[in-house]
Amino acid sequence: MTSTDQPTTRHGIDLARLAALARREQQAYAAARPRSAAAASAAAGHWHDGVPLHWMKDWGLPFPFAVASASGVTLTDIDGHAYTDFCLGDTGSMFGHAPEAITAAIRDQAGKGLTAMLPSVHTAEVGALLARRFGLPFWQSTLTATDANRAVIRWARGITRRRKLLVFNGCYHGAVDDAHVRLANGSPIWRPGLVGQVYDVTEHTEVVEFNDIPALEAALAGGDVALLLAEPVMTNIGMVLPAPGTHEAMRRLTRQYGTLLCIDETHTISTGPGGYTRAHGLEPDFFVLGKPVAGGVPAAVYGFTRDVSDAMKRLRAEDPGYSGMGTTLSANTLAMAAMRACLSQVMTHAAYDHMIGLANFMADGLRHVIKRHRLPWCVSQVGARVEYMLAETPPRNGAEAGLIGDAEIEGAIRTAMVNRGIVITPFHNMMLLSPATTLDDVERFVRTFEAIVETLAA
Ligand SMILES: Cc1ncc(COP(=O)(O)O)c(C=O)c1O
Repeated sequence: MTSTDQPTTRHGIDLARLAALARREQQAYAAARPRSAAAASAAAGHWHDGVPLHWMKDWGLPFPFAVASASGVTLTDIDGHAYTDFCLGDTGSMFGHAPEAITAAIRDQAGKGLTAMLPSVHTAEVGALLARRFGLPFWQSTLTATDANRAVIRWARGITRRRKLLVFNGCYHGAVDDAHVRLANGSPIWRPGLVGQVYDVTEHTEVVEFNDIPALEAALAGGDVALLLAEPVMTNIGMVLPAPGTHEAMRRLTRQYGTLLCIDETHTISTGPGGYTRAHGLEPDFFVLGKPVAGGVPAAVYGFTRDVSDAMKRLRAEDPGYSGMGTTLSANTLAMAAMRACLSQVMTHAAYDHMIGLANFMADGLRHVIKRHRLPWCVSQVGARVEYMLAETPPRNGAEAGLIGDAEIEGAIRTAMVNRGIVITPFHNMMLLSPATTLDDVERFVRTFEAIVETLAA
């Protein structure tokens, strides 16, 4: 502490050195990227806030660098800088940018039509691939995981004739209104920052902490919850691993109280070829997967049991009007062609062995760095997905995870990594290992991370 009682360190980091590094790195970033700066100014003429999607500005960089090309794990910007990409489009390109099997499928399909609002030559094969891999017999396709989750919520409410959705504090399931809730002092609130929200999401959505089985049972016991929507490992508020018994309790209690269970594997598909669900023998009623399922071509799927499929058919027979689900381009032919290639040629056991081997190596390397520099930080991992967090022990729930983020420290490290040719995910500290990542890439990552934290450690 100084004489004015201002803290001089936070999370083991010297705050004066942090401020100096952040300043230096922001300046170095801007100076080295005149073309990206000019592209950002030009884009600002017509794109709101200079970007085609407003949160592309939220990387904490002076301006985003503009991508010229991406292949494997190499991103190249229009100033000619090459980056090793550990963000991989926050999972959309988890199997590397433009894998050959996907580009070949796109090339082939491009000459045969892109969308027809009809099944295609790929449909039966993709359905069989999904069923075999994930163990659920029936499937539907959407354009995004957001939309898959929305559809699942709708089906679950229809089938159970119940209104409520139950989610875990700190969750993210895409731009799904119903899931935009948080717990504050034990009470559900709207997620801070929601734009244009007009109806009370907490009226139809319950929220409890992950790994809190008594709270889960209390929420379900009223018999009015249609669906528990959950990631098997929370990955959007740092990483929160399930405690022993959590999944068993989720399944037992949802069955006991007549609630359907959806496991959203959009991020945890990093666990293995069949996701966390297959690796851990989970038995969800619904299963959602988006982002990388078509190798980067927009597509998502949701699977379900025969019981659910039968109930869905009964619902539609009773009331065959407009279902409120689906978009015109969902299940388009191009997405189906890409999904077929991804499931059959890209998401292989060999690919996962490689990715997870590298992730183990990275997690170990980061733990050593943290230990060497006596930082009160930890590392969690789910398969090919690694996260470092600014807490001595991994958080047990969303509330704990929410308290340990530090935008200033994490942002400075992220920018310094970018300046040294390494990209990690914005918003938190996630690294993905892909089939195209090499051991050299990971060693360089760990060395670079260490060089940066060495300058900051108190
Ligand atoms: C667990 C989970 N589900 C769903 C989504 C939504 O995916 P998309 O933005 O592709 O709709 C995300 C996005 O990050 C996610 O993390």
